[in-house]
Amino acid sequence: MVTIKSQKEIELMKDVCKMVAEFYDELEKKVKAGISTFELNEEAEKIMRSLGGIPAQIGYNPGVSGIPPYPAATCISVNDEIIHGIPRKNKIIKDGDIVSIDTVILKNGFHGDAARTFMVGNVSKEAKRLVEVTKQAFFEGLKFAKKGYRVGDISHAIGEYVKSQGFSVLKEFQGHGIGRQMHEDPGIPNYGKAGKGTRLEPGMTICIEPMVIQGKENILELDDGWTIVTEDGSLSAHYENTILITENEPKVLTIK
Ligand code: MF3
Ligand code: CO
Repeated sequence: MVTIKSQKEIELMKDVCKMVAEFYDELEKKVKAGISTFELNEEAEKIMRSLGGIPAQIGYNPGVSGIPPYPAATCISVNDEIIHGIPRKNKIIKDGDIVSIDTVILKNGFHGDAARTFMVGNVSKEAKRLVEVTKQAFFEGLKFAKKGYRVGDISHAIGEYVKSQGFSVLKEFQGHGIGRQMHEDPGIPNYGKAGKGTRLEPGMTICIEPMVIQGKENILELDDGWTIVTEDGSLSAHYENTILITENEPKVLTIK
């Protein structure tokens, strides 16, 4: 169901999303070579709780049989891991890695969701370009996150931009509406046809989240039931914000 937020609900969305922005400012300082993704997740959970937020991803159940509830506050996906990387003790971050972190915070009944890809130490030129293109892909989509356009306009803009840069988008996962639920309608794919899909209306809060692969679009799922990796071993990056559709320009809620 697509939900249109009231003014009161918009204030609560702004509040939790501001916390998500503060969370990443703090967490960025901890993303260094030598730390395991397990420890990084522990730091993340501590930061969230100290800000007064509830880590909403812990125990998240996608409702698909055979898939265990998600066990951690964050998803941490390194290099060829695209999304949903489960933090683990034996995954140590190294100089040159690109580290995608995705999290959802819950406060006062509303969710804020964002993802960032951090570059650790000396990353290759191509890895840097991938991270930059992924972020820019979000802003290409954002140009169409306005009253009068449709979801397909956002999807099309992201997909075409990424293709023009020689990279691929992840097709099996997508952005989404957000509010009282972590995932609400509409789904926001990172490719698609302009002029198609749900009409954008003021009061909608949605997550736009390009997941970009350096090489071919084919993916594998690891035995843990969650971690999605590139089949060809190429790198991948993720950039996501929660945004508000307004009468005019969209408002990016998870950037300060
Ligand atoms: N934050 C993710 C998203 O963008 C959700 C991750 S699934 C979870 O939709 F299980 F980790 F919560
Ligand atoms: Co997310």
